[in-house]
Amino acid sequence: MEYLSDVKQSDLIRAAQCLKSGNLVAFPTETVYGLGADATNPESVSQIYAVKERPANHPLIVHVSSLKLIDKWARNIPDYAFKLAEVFWPGPMTLVLPRSILAKDFITGSQDTVGLRIPANNYALKLLSNFEIIGGLGVAAPSANRFGAVSPTSAFDVRSELGDYLNENDIIIDGGECEIGIESTIIDCTKRVPLVLRPGVINSKMISSATGLESSYKNENNESHNLRVPGMLKNHYAPNAQIILNGFSTSGDGFIALNDISTPVGAIRLASPTNSAEFAKILYRSFRLGDEMHLKRIIVIPPKKDELSVAVLDRIKKASYKVNVP
Ligand code: TXA
Ligand code: MG
Repeated sequence: MEYLSDVKQSDLIRAAQCLKSGNLVAFPTETVYGLGADATNPESVSQIYAVKERPANHPLIVHVSSLKLIDKWARNIPDYAFKLAEVFWPGPMTLVLPRSILAKDFITGSQDTVGLRIPANNYALKLLSNFEIIGGLGVAAPSANRFGAVSPTSAFDVRSELGDYLNENDIIIDGGECEIGIESTIIDCTKRVPLVLRPGVINSKMISSATGLESSYKNENNESHNLRVPGMLKNHYAPNAQIILNGFSTSGDGFIALNDISTPVGAIRLASPTNSAEFAKILYRSFRLGDEMHLKRIIVIPPKKDELSVAVLDRIKKASYKVNVP
């Protein structure tokens, strides 16, 4: 594996060629780092599954650099999806749309829909547009972590997570820390109104004001939406340490809370964000820090009161679930 820092335009051309010839490229986006492969190449995509050890029937998001390519991957796109795309792309939003014949079962997990995203990160956009110039149509990219682990928000974290599993021709692009730090909002656009499958920075109020429609939010207990979304498995995004939501800390526990909350006696402060955006940005790094320090438990006091807190709380809950439920 080649690790590229101080990335130049010529590196991004080479990385695009690397994708085209069937190798994997881990790249930064504004949300988290992705592990990319040519979305039309079944062998490359199967490499993603091998490296992540991800179950094969889970769908992948296809990343493109411009709206022009959306028609290639999706069909019967509702008006409200175009409105969302115009307002929020490039950005931290994935639209789930009826698939075209280009979106094969190995991308969609055999569902009739495909997830699409135009990320707002210059390295990602240049990589994608260079890939498209040489005939690429889209880059399938899940978060660049092993299945079930937290998403990486720096190239350094990608390397420590996947370095041992990548091949010598694969590339990691170091584009610094991700600005947002939690994954994109996923919106199912196959129904009459938008349905949020995974909360994120783009929240329901923003969706309503862009579309004029009330969006709904998928309740995980609602069996009627039978979509396979690994990010929605309840034990996802978990570090090794036990994540305890709103718990009392005992000596030696890690502690993450807003900076106006003081550290309990004996606890080890892992982060002190000043608002929910900072909370999102440092959350996964703080979990990893707790693991690097071999902490057994991390107490997290989530932010409240604003829309982004919903998404942050969602990730904390998922990380804590595996210890709360046998
Ligand atoms: O922010 C992000 O979305 C990052 C960056 C790299 O773009 N990507 C990401 O990918 O989080 P991943 O695979 O870790 O999570 C994407 C989620 C998965 O839970 C997947 O099941 C869901 O998107 N997804 C993809 N295609 C879908 C589809 N057709 N229907 C429903 N869910 C889908
Ligand atoms: Mg993921």
